[in-house]
Amino acid sequence: MAGYPSFKGQVLNGQQLWDLIEGLEANDLLYYTHLLTGYIGSVSFLDSILEVVKKLRSINPKLTYVCDPVLGDEGKLYVPPELVAVYREKVIPVATMLTPNQFEAEQLTGLRIVSERDGREACNIIHAAGPSKVVLTSINIDGVLLLIGSYQKEKGVSPEQFKIVIPKIPAYFTGTGDLMTALLLGWSNKYPDDLSRAAELAVSSLQALLQRTVADYQKAGYDPQSSSLEIRLIQSQDDIRHPQVTYKAEKY
Ligand code: ATP
Ligand code: MG
Ligand code: NA
Ligand code: MG
Repeated sequence: MAGYPSFKGQVLNGQQLWDLIEGLEANDLLYYTHLLTGYIGSVSFLDSILEVVKKLRSINPKLTYVCDPVLGDEGKLYVPPELVAVYREKVIPVATMLTPNQFEAEQLTGLRIVSERDGREACNIIHAAGPSKVVLTSINIDGVLLLIGSYQKEKGVSPEQFKIVIPKIPAYFTGTGDLMTALLLGWSNKYPDDLSRAAELAVSSLQALLQRTVADYQKAGYDPQSSSLEIRLIQSQDDIRHPQVTYKAEKY
């Protein structure tokens, strides 16, 4: 919904979410291997998510919880500011993987990220709070987009870190953050001990899709810089299933 001029329909509240959980539980359908969360607009809903995580882990203690801590972008919050502390204090400690953008990583760690070193340090701070996998989905360093990944195999050991350089396409897309986190979850499930491989595959799929999106708009006579572009998800199924790895991770 975010990114569109208008929307309709209802927003589920925490109690309604919990009702669904109870319905699933009553039918023995609450065994899950993965949970992914994205945009959450209120403290009360985020509290319900925490209850859901607890419940799902009571049924499957190995549940992987991938959290995209959506707070804002480009220096601006787009959720109520009270959410930041709830993510920091309650959500991050129970997340397995965290996928903040630059602004979110800054909000959650209190660091200002102006260099690769800062990005890696932000990952270290997040590991110390809980998640073994951290992906800063993009940081802008001197006009270059970098993805920074960090995988801490065991508590207390120093994490394996890498970067992927992403050429910036001069266009603005809707939905890239959500897709990136979903792809990272998917490829990490296939390569649980190789976050750099998972990230290469995720970035390569996404970049192929973004290039197709821009080409499509250009073919139709639109200027891709003039408005937010609707990503070509269905048309890019093959790039999502079988990406050609064109973006390589460089280990630190
Ligand atoms: P969103 O704005 O959709 O919430 P986000 O801020 O959470 O996204 P970003 O890190 O900005 O997440 O974007 C996710 C991924 O999308 C990046 O890793 C990058 O691969 C890709 N991406 C987004 N915009 C561009 C662009 N203009 N050029 C190249 N890649 C892009
Ligand atoms: Mg962004
Ligand atoms: Na992100
Ligand atoms: Mg996002």
